Amino acid sequence: MRITGTGHASMRIDTDAGSILCDPWVNPAYFASWFPFPDNSLLDWETLGDVDYLYVSHLHRDHFDAEHLLRFISKKATVLLPEYPTSQLEDELRDLGFTSFFRTKSDEVHELDGGLKVMIQALISPTDGPIGDSSLWVEHDGVRLLNQNDARPSDLSRFAELGHVHAHLLQFSGAIWYPMVYELPTAAKTAFGKQKRDRQFDRTWRYIDDLKADHVFPIAGPPCFLDDELWQFNDIFGDEGNIFPDQSVFMSEYAKVGGTNGVVLLPGSVSDVTAGSIETTHPTDVDEFFANKKAHLEEMRDRKAPIIAAEKASWRHPEIDVLGELKKRIEPLLEESIYLAKGVGGPVRFDLVNYDGDAIESIVVDFPGKQVRAYADEKVRYRFRTQRELIEHLIFIDEGDWVNSLFLSCRFSAARIGQYNEFVYAFFKCLSEERLQYAEGWYDEHEKSVDAEDTHLGDWTVQRRCPHLKADLSRFGIVEGNVLTCQLHGWKFDLPSGKCLTSVGHKIRAEKTNP
Ligand code: FES
Repeated sequence: MRITGTGHASMRIDTDAGSILCDPWVNPAYFASWFPFPDNSLLDWETLGDVDYLYVSHLHRDHFDAEHLLRFISKKATVLLPEYPTSQLEDELRDLGFTSFFRTKSDEVHELDGGLKVMIQALISPTDGPIGDSSLWVEHDGVRLLNQNDARPSDLSRFAELGHVHAHLLQFSGAIWYPMVYELPTAAKTAFGKQKRDRQFDRTWRYIDDLKADHVFPIAGPPCFLDDELWQFNDIFGDEGNIFPDQSVFMSEYAKVGGTNGVVLLPGSVSDVTAGSIETTHPTDVDEFFANKKAHLEEMRDRKAPIIAAEKASWRHPEIDVLGELKKRIEPLLEESIYLAKGVGGPVRFDLVNYDGDAIESIVVDFPGKQVRAYADEKVRYRFRTQRELIEHLIFIDEGDWVNSLFLSCRFSAARIGQYNEFVYAFFKCLSEERLQYAEGWYDEHEKSVDAEDTHLGDWTVQRRCPHLKADLSRFGIVEGNVLTCQLHGWKFDLPSGKCLTSVGHKIRAEKTNP
């Protein structure tokens, strides 16, 4: 089996029974803030795109690049489709001209022509990707590969039981706006960033240890930020609180925990993997490349500047009545929302900054009052500050997912009183009837099923499934004193009170076994 690195979470897998291109992403995503790192735009995409199968793991724009798919990927390719609850991924691919779809069943092995076996595990909670994320398992001629990309299954047992895996490709770096956009003192931001960076690595080690593959490939990040306004997010300033460590940092951190089987793929690197060997060639010296990272980014920044300028020029729509339009779009959704609205529990304020940089308009999405209205000098727990033109653009393109556009762009700042509240972001990724109904249904079912079974951790009997996303706490739970930490996403719970210390809601059922 041959794996060609094509940048970020993307790779091409070649076997004698056919080729699969995964998540090809080249054009900037999220308001031109994220670019693939290292640069992959100079690869021979005409050739790479001439494939038998296409796999797009999910609709996040650093995995689904409509412009690139349209231009370079063969429409004769059969799409390997994850089993998602909504048809949006298929619809968007059909709009681009793909007509051949192979609908997989989650967690089921499918045999394709020539004996190529594939399995896609679809994760479908409202917090997985933009409603859905997935991993691809491939087997041919006794060689097995897992492209986990940035999916976070609660464990990898379904893959492990299919036999020893030879190549495991997974995310290790950050892909979020926390804590950089928070209006916090620098020292606090650094401390939170460091915690986040450590947690990302811990989670990666856990997955690696779960699967025990022969070779581990760090993929799916980090992106790079080429706009001057976001340049500080690149991990080139020795900031220990930067959440975007690159592949060379992965290799040194992995070595510290005893990892010796890491393989870095640059765009254009090729790994030939058999059941007993691996041979990798690179387009340039890997160590030298990372030693010159800053120069690479500066050169990219100059080359891509016109693309950023052109995108920026398309965001302004001064004719749009932002408050009126948000009222029209969001109020019907607030009316229908039970779980999300209750979960947010208060007003969320948006400060929109005009074209000259002065705050001009403060809008409140009032979840208890089911209203979108002008800010009325009240106390709010969540506040976002962003450019008015970004919201104008979201309205103009009728964007139904502000996470997969505004929030991932990092082109905003945020302040909150109290804990993180995942319902805020879950709601703003569900700004359509279909998505909102799905998310409401999911939370309804989740609430009923999550605390049925128990497990024992130290002196405590606790519900077996994590109140966050159902991780098995007999595997992921660690108790220190009276605090339980679920290692899947690092959420903490105070056991005597059951209170979640990481986010609003999400109470855990716990009882001291030997009081
Ligand atoms: S499942 Fe996310 S912290 Fe437990």
